[in-house]
Amino acid sequence: MRTIAIANQKGGSGKTTTCVNLAAALGEAGRRVLMIDLDPQHSATAWYGIKNAGKGVLGIFMDNARLEDFIQAAAAPGVEVAPSSAWLVGVEKVLAGEVGAETILKRQLDRLPPDRWDYVLLDCPPTLGILTVNALAAARELLVPVEAHVMALSGLAQLLHTVEVVRDRLNPDLKVTGILACRVDSRTRHAREVVERLRERSGSLVYRTVIRENIRLAECPSFGQPITQYDPKSAGAADYRALAQEIMEQERG
Ligand SMILES: Nc1ncnc2c1ncn2[C@@H]1O[C@H](COP(=O)(O)OP(=O)(O)OP(=O)(O)O)[C@@H](O)[C@H]1O
Ligand SMILES: [Mg+2]
Repeated sequence: MRTIAIANQKGGSGKTTTCVNLAAALGEAGRRVLMIDLDPQHSATAWYGIKNAGKGVLGIFMDNARLEDFIQAAAAPGVEVAPSSAWLVGVEKVLAGEVGAETILKRQLDRLPPDRWDYVLLDCPPTLGILTVNALAAARELLVPVEAHVMALSGLAQLLHTVEVVRDRLNPDLKVTGILACRVDSRTRHAREVVERLRERSGSLVYRTVIRENIRLAECPSFGQPITQYDPKSAGAADYRALAQEIMEQERG
């Protein structure tokens, strides 16, 4: 079981789009995926059309509930979801200063049956607060989506610093598994330059696959479907399938 946090404190970098569609592409390839939504905006939960989530993952942070008890099947083959809800918005305040708060999710993941899923993907909110730190403490891998704009690169150093701190104090196993360029408009020179600069800086950490700007990706949340179902022949579906292949290849060494 690979546990991959999808995080970037910069808002709108493509975290949720990547989490939902990578999960679906891995599921389509025959892998079993658990997607955990850690964002109080609960956009990944809504994307999969889940409405009866109750308090969702808040339960594990506030009521000591078991993660396993509220996992739901998603409409996409192979994908299950631990939903989020707006209730989660208060969690930062409630957990501030509580002993062991950063490792609540880790203890939950350690309890999951190890062979039920091949991948656990964690969709993080756009902050470096307690929820994202929980994800970084619980996961072994971090996937960082970055929007292909110069501005978007500046936050990367801060994120990588946080990763260092988490590694030192909470999770020595955490490694950056890949940086993913998202919303790449290949018609513009700017986007190409940003991707080049990213490769110069972070080298082999950057996935070969880039996610192109594709309007179909922006449309599909309203239809409660991942791109692989909403428009299986779109560029967005092709890109997320390519990413899934690249991620599965990482296992071959
Ligand atoms: N490749 C793409 N092509 C077109 N639109 C995209 C693409 N990727 C993401 N978007 C759009 O960009 C916006 C931000 O994407 P997304 O919600 O995935 O980012 P996020 O990092 O999860 O945001 P937040 O920080 O708010 O959680 C959304 O409106 C989404 O539909
Ligand atoms: Mg999001």
